[in-house]
Amino acid sequence: MRNPPFRYLQTLQEHFVTAPSWFSSVDGLGTNNARLPATGASLTTNQDGKGTAFQRWFHFKEAFSPSFVSAAIDSLGYRPQHIADPFGGSGTTAITAQLMSIDATTVEVNPFLADVIKAKVSPLSAEKLRHAAADFQASLSGTRSNISRLSHLPPTFIEGPEKPRWIFPLTVARHLSRYLTCIDQIADVDTQRFFKVVLGAVLVECSNIYVNGKGRRYRSAWQENQPTPKKLDELFALRFNTSFEDVLRFEGRPRSRINVINGDSRTALAQVSEPIDLAVFSPPYPNTFDYTDIYNVELWVLGYLGSSADNARLRKETLRSHVQVSRPYDSPAKSSQLLAQTIEALNQQKERLWDSNIPAMVGAYFRDLEIVLEQCQRLLAPSGKVMMVVGDSRYANVRIDVANIIGEIATAMGFGSVAVREVRQMRSSAQQGGRLLLAESIVELRG
Ligand SMILES: C[S@@+](CC[C@H](N)C(=O)[O-])C[C@H]1O[C@@H](n2cnc3c(N)ncnc32)[C@H](O)[C@@H]1O
Repeated sequence: MRNPPFRYLQTLQEHFVTAPSWFSSVDGLGTNNARLPATGASLTTNQDGKGTAFQRWFHFKEAFSPSFVSAAIDSLGYRPQHIADPFGGSGTTAITAQLMSIDATTVEVNPFLADVIKAKVSPLSAEKLRHAAADFQASLSGTRSNISRLSHLPPTFIEGPEKPRWIFPLTVARHLSRYLTCIDQIADVDTQRFFKVVLGAVLVECSNIYVNGKGRRYRSAWQENQPTPKKLDELFALRFNTSFEDVLRFEGRPRSRINVINGDSRTALAQVSEPIDLAVFSPPYPNTFDYTDIYNVELWVLGYLGSSADNARLRKETLRSHVQVSRPYDSPAKSSQLLAQTIEALNQQKERLWDSNIPAMVGAYFRDLEIVLEQCQRLLAPSGKVMMVVGDSRYANVRIDVANIIGEIATAMGFGSVAVREVRQMRSSAQQGGRLLLAESIVELRG
């Protein structure tokens, strides 16, 4: 479901080849409409051809496969007016809806990721970007570094005397400050956001660390192989070119209304009043993994976080799928026997859990999903449906059967039809027992 099995571009092309008749009236779709003028070619020469259109703008491990989103839309059996994704991530639902000329609303709590989505769906013109690139290069070479721009960063970020480790060498940090100054000078909001997203997409690659599901790790022999300002320039140019190519390639796409809300879907969905035909989403799994940690470098360097209080605030706005920050843990309003049994089993194993809040966190996780489902229920059109991709977790050998617990809660909430389908088995994290397999499932709900 996640980690697209096909390249996005290929998937979209295949999709459009077999598109239902309502696509054919839309101009600007499909391979035959691609416009790659000679002037644009030089800007695309560096791109390596790997990856999938739009998804290759920023590596997001948990992204939907676009073919899943388009299949979910097709499975409605009618053309939807408006679809929603309350956990937008890298924006696969939003961009797929736009390419299919469908209105969409998406909510994403992480402001950097919300900007990634906005950059993908905003009406950027290749011509404008081409001029902006030339202006940017000129202004970069005439801009002095100003390291005080990065003075808000936590101490581990920039090389300094007495520090045992740092994410960015001082030379790279100085160069980053010049990039940030030049990005600030871009007047057009959409263009500025595009540049910011491109810079965000190369930050970790141009640092001494890598980030995976376990968090931040230093590269092997990082002291001897530190990035340089030249590497930053090369990575930025490469990423600019690949993202630019998608702007150019899909420039004539339909411009349906895509509403990107940067906020907490538990409260932000209340702002939505237009009925939805499909809510398609994958929430964080209850595996104590906080996305705020994974995208921390981008959030700090690009200025979305200015203090540790900002960081704590963002953690609190994320779904209660982790225990990194203390907050109240309440339980779902509707009962689920399976959830009650699971929490009881976790409490019995409490001394084996690495954090004593895990049983309460599991209860609160389902309360959060219930709140999101209440909003979906309020907004769902009579023939619409909810499609959620969810994954199990396991603590001290107690399985959190997420799909079936949601099924019970949704039934108690009055959803008329509840179907659970297992789609794959995932390997659990080391913290969760490593070798054990966990199910990933689709939960389908109708009004
Ligand atoms: C599994 S990812 C979604 C991936 C997405 N389907 C895609 O294709 O890119 C879950 C996302 O939910 C976001 N998230 C977590 N808590 C949230 C909340 N309370 N409101 C909105 N988004 C939230 C995370 O930042 C993360 O990007």
